[in-house]
Amino acid sequence: MQGQISGSTAAAIAECVRDLVAVGHIQPGDSLPPIRSLADDLGLNRNTVATAYRQLVSMGLAVTRSRAGTVITTLPPPDTELDPAPGAMDLASGNPDPALLPDLYAAVSASRTDPALYGAPAVHPSLRVAAHQLFADVPAGELVITHGAVDAVERLLAAYLIRGDLVALESPCFLASIGTIRLNGYRTAAVAVDEHGMTPDGLDRALREGARAVIITPRAHNPTGASLNTERAQQLSDLLQGYPEVLVIEDDHLSMVATAAYHRVTAATTHRWALIRSVAKFLGPDLRVALTYTDPATADALKARLRAGKTWVSHLLQGAAAYLLTDPDSIALVASARQTYQRRLSGLTTELLQHNITPFGMPDGLNMWIDLPAQMDADRLHTELARAGWATQPGRIYTAGDSPPPHALRITTASLTQSTAHHFAAALADLLHAP
Ligand SMILES: Cc1ncc(COP(=O)(O)O)c(C=O)c1O
Repeated sequence: MQGQISGSTAAAIAECVRDLVAVGHIQPGDSLPPIRSLADDLGLNRNTVATAYRQLVSMGLAVTRSRAGTVITTLPPPDTELDPAPGAMDLASGNPDPALLPDLYAAVSASRTDPALYGAPAVHPSLRVAAHQLFADVPAGELVITHGAVDAVERLLAAYLIRGDLVALESPCFLASIGTIRLNGYRTAAVAVDEHGMTPDGLDRALREGARAVIITPRAHNPTGASLNTERAQQLSDLLQGYPEVLVIEDDHLSMVATAAYHRVTAATTHRWALIRSVAKFLGPDLRVALTYTDPATADALKARLRAGKTWVSHLLQGAAAYLLTDPDSIALVASARQTYQRRLSGLTTELLQHNITPFGMPDGLNMWIDLPAQMDADRLHTELARAGWATQPGRIYTAGDSPPPHALRITTASLTQSTAHHFAAALADLLHAP
């Protein structure tokens, strides 16, 4: 490799390495030649090569490792949950119960209008009207429509952050947020979560360390199910008050099917903020629509890229979402889904308590989190549950940044009947209490 790298300036060397990576002559994971030897080879000062390597690191093309020197970056590991074993009862997917979702085809049909052409308004007028209802409980904002919440988060970060910026993230955390941070080369400031959600101490530390953005789940946190109460939201908001430059993203992913109330965290001083409400959990994950309220400047930054003529969320989907957000039958279905999810969570809680197993906090949403005894081998428990026919997710996969992996299990309760809950609790108790 050393013989292939050429250039007489730092910029030229960095460009040459980029080219060699692009054509596959240098592979991800390869170490670049030591600075001293490449400098000698090229007849250059070592500082020139060191500057070239620093440029590659700031581009995100290389990382510095203590022993291996400067190494070409490899793709981050995928942020995927584990697939359930064939035939296992799926308590792992994080999905809503399909039986509690409305008929999307009927909604597309019922909301039929002339197809949108290039130049149409990026927000479907009917969805703008429906949004008033969905955001009735929050201060006014500018409405932006994205292809789901994950898309909104990624675009918001891209609008304001640069590679290497620090992002405060709950730990444990929703996997897609972890993946977004990694893929875009941001760094994670992991903030611990307790039964009331993001912890003030953790957020304080992250802000002091220089976090440029905070992503927070105000209720039904995934994976723990925790929600902020009034007091906690106020504490977090008070902290953010001192950092008006920090981008605050509230991912209220469960919105209409959450039982816990929404408490705003964004501070009055926050300049750049976004409150995202996806329809995935109550109208279906395949309706790729999330509604976001933001401050005007942030809305402009997002709208610049989400315009009809560039890329926009299909009016077919927006029309269907608007129809379902306002149709009385659909509203009734969502209200009953909310009750059903809560009943399923409390049903499993009751069954577990009978076996002296206490779930984490007061869960809301589609998942329950169970902390495991310190002496328990969490991976083994996960495997043995799978062997007994129960697919769950091991808590460690939700680790954000370099915080210690959670010693816990995530159970998706969205489709859990009472009898399944009864059998699952017994199976878990057998394994947990086995000598
Ligand atoms: C915290 C959180 N945000 C967002 C999403 C998904 O949002 P969307 O499908 O709208 O991208 C999920 C899905 O599980 C989630 O748990």
